[in-house]
Amino acid sequence: MLKTAVMVSGGGTNLQAIIDAVSEGRIKGVQIVRVISNKKDAYALQRAAKAGIGSTVVSREDHPDRREFDEALLKALDDSGADLIVLAGFLVVLPAEVTRRYAGRIINIHPSLIPSFCGEGFYGLKVHEEALKRGVKVTGATVHFVDEGCDTGPIILQRAVSVEKGDTPEILQRRVMEQAEWKILPEAIELIAENRVVLKDGRAEIV
Ligand code: GRF
Repeated sequence: MLKTAVMVSGGGTNLQAIIDAVSEGRIKGVQIVRVISNKKDAYALQRAAKAGIGSTVVSREDHPDRREFDEALLKALDDSGADLIVLAGFLVVLPAEVTRRYAGRIINIHPSLIPSFCGEGFYGLKVHEEALKRGVKVTGATVHFVDEGCDTGPIILQRAVSVEKGDTPEILQRRVMEQAEWKILPEAIELIAENRVVLKDGRAEIV
C-alpha cells in the first residue's frame, strides 16, 4: 500500500480528484494517510474530513519563525508515515530538509506545460493570465517530481488543453483543472504505486 500525504493550501479540487479515484477504485494500492495544510481555512480540509482523512495544519500564524515552521512541516510529514508526498495546490516552497529527506518521493501538479509559465511567482490564476497574454493556442498541466528548484524536477506526465476564443483566466483554469489536472495527478500516483515511474539520467520514464 502506497501511503500518501497530500499537501494543500486552498480549495482542494486536486485532493478531491485523488480521494474520488481511490474511493471509486480507479487507483489501487494507494492510501491517503494525511492531508497537511498551511492554511487553517483551506476548504481542502473540509474535503479531507468528509472523506474521513486526518489532517494537520502547520501555519505561519502558529509558527512565525521560519525555521520553526519548517521543522513543524517536516515533523508533520514524518509523523504521517507517508511514502509519497503530493503537493496539490500547496503554495509554500518546501524546506530543503524536506526535499532532501524525501528526494524522489515528492510530486507536484502545475497548471501549465512545463517549461512554459512556471517558476517563481507562477501559480494559480497567474499562470493562465500569462498564457492568455502570450497568446498560446495550447496549454495544459504537468505532474513532476519536486527537487530543490521551483517547478524544475523531472516531468512524469503532461496533458494538453486547447485555449478557446474568449477564454478568461478563470475559464481556462477550470478547463485545465477538469481536462488535465484532475486526470493526470491520480494517474501519476497510480503509476508510482505500481512502480512504473523510473528516474534515468535526470528524466522520469514510464515503464
Ligand atoms: C490548481 O490550479 C493547481 O494546479 C495549482 O493550485 C491550484 C488550486 O488547486 N497547483 P486545488 O483546487 O486547491 O487543488
